[in-house]
Amino acid sequence: MTEQATAQIGVTGLAVMGRNLARNLARNGFAVAVHNRSPERTRSLVAEHGDEGRFVPAESLADFVAALERPRAVIVMVKAGGPTDAVIDELVPLLDAGDIIVDCGNAHFADTRRREEALRKQGLHVVGTGVSGGEEGALRGPSIMPGGSAESYRKLGPIFEKIAAQVDGVPCCRHIGPDGAGHFVKMVHNGIEYADMQLIAEAYDLLRAGLGAEPAEIADIFREWNSGELESFLIEITADVLAHGDATGRAFVDVVLDQAEQKGTGRWTVQSALDLGIPITGIAEATFARSLSGHAGQREAARRAFPAAGATWRVDDRETFVEDVRRALLASKIVAYAQGFDQIRAGSREYDWDIDLGGTATIWRGGCIIRARFLDRIRQAYDDQPDLPTLLVAPWFADTVRDGVPSWRRVVAEAARAGVPAPAFSSSLSYFDALRADRLPAALIQGLRDNFGAHTYRRVDRDGSFHTLWATADRREVEA
Ligand code: 6PG
Repeated sequence: MTEQATAQIGVTGLAVMGRNLARNLARNGFAVAVHNRSPERTRSLVAEHGDEGRFVPAESLADFVAALERPRAVIVMVKAGGPTDAVIDELVPLLDAGDIIVDCGNAHFADTRRREEALRKQGLHVVGTGVSGGEEGALRGPSIMPGGSAESYRKLGPIFEKIAAQVDGVPCCRHIGPDGAGHFVKMVHNGIEYADMQLIAEAYDLLRAGLGAEPAEIADIFREWNSGELESFLIEITADVLAHGDATGRAFVDVVLDQAEQKGTGRWTVQSALDLGIPITGIAEATFARSLSGHAGQREAARRAFPAAGATWRVDDRETFVEDVRRALLASKIVAYAQGFDQIRAGSREYDWDIDLGGTATIWRGGCIIRARFLDRIRQAYDDQPDLPTLLVAPWFADTVRDGVPSWRRVVAEAARAGVPAPAFSSSLSYFDALRADRLPAALIQGLRDNFGAHTYRRVDRDGSFHTLWATADRREVEA
């Protein structure tokens, strides 16, 4: 028998993320109702961690809901997609107007918008919430990105802000905006995570090929980088993973199959960027690089048709090369973040979310996978100038990119010469060059479109739309 209405918040779905989130809530003094479809997990959570705080275990969903204070706040921590819909469908008849369903899974923001709209009509709040930081973060302080109504944040804010990571006394949690805003921002976070990881992997690959260095030596380079501008969780764990040895005596990284998997958030980020018309080329390259790595059959065929010349590339000046790669990594990383923030701004406009970009950077400074020293500079840049056209032109970023350009070009050129793939490095450099070009060959594309399809074009010297009568002898231009 459960106690009645004694828990401030509930968690249903006690796989590792839900379990850790529930423990984090309990450790921070919140009475938390806990429920799982198979009750063994609920029992083991209480048996193993019952002394960490106040848990109210429930074996049925009805008892779980009855244990919650009103307005009830129910965290759903199950697999995104069908399983989330199934749990919500079961919960709804047990809830009353004003109650809040908090979906902390990696849901697609469009699903969150659909659920929010459907349940709003029944007086229920759906709060799609991005939670980043993996298992450890969920337990010790994640970065939390709640969407949904301002009213629901009045109940959830004080709870989430307490259990979130804290940086300089500021919680890594804030209300992102209505309906799907939280899940959208988490999706872009993951896209940036993909780009960050791909850039790190390319840097490692280049160092390994150019220096002929072993993973453990490269670990030292990353460790050193982690004490400078690149300081971040991902650089830190890169050093850790590269230094790790396998039981076979080989480097761990050499025994892992080189096919990167994904659960889909990177792909969603790219799909959404295509819809919004935002060129997130770094994130897209990173996502495609994962896909390419998985095409084992094609890779095998190409390897046979075009065997690599072997490890013939060696750089002359080790120190300069390492510094070049570091600068190229930093510049490419700036491009990836600039593009990600462009996408958030575009999503915010499209869906009327009014997302604060500086605020978003603030809550990514700690707790999440992309946490980095660098995020504080992004916060500063958007706080100083909320309508910044692109992060690339904010003073610190512009200076850093300007300083890094010669290194960036050397690294991309050397990689191309040596035949080492560096798709994210090179596409980031191309993005930068395209953005700063005086003229782009897009003018020719317009000409071609007009030639074969009368699609019209605009001119640099006059307003209006024009079409050239390509089939006529005099190729007259007419106003369209
Ligand atoms: C986080 C992560 C997490 C994500 C994993 C796996 O912020 O804690 O983004 O939510 O699910 O990193 O993602 P992939 O399997 O797609 O690489």
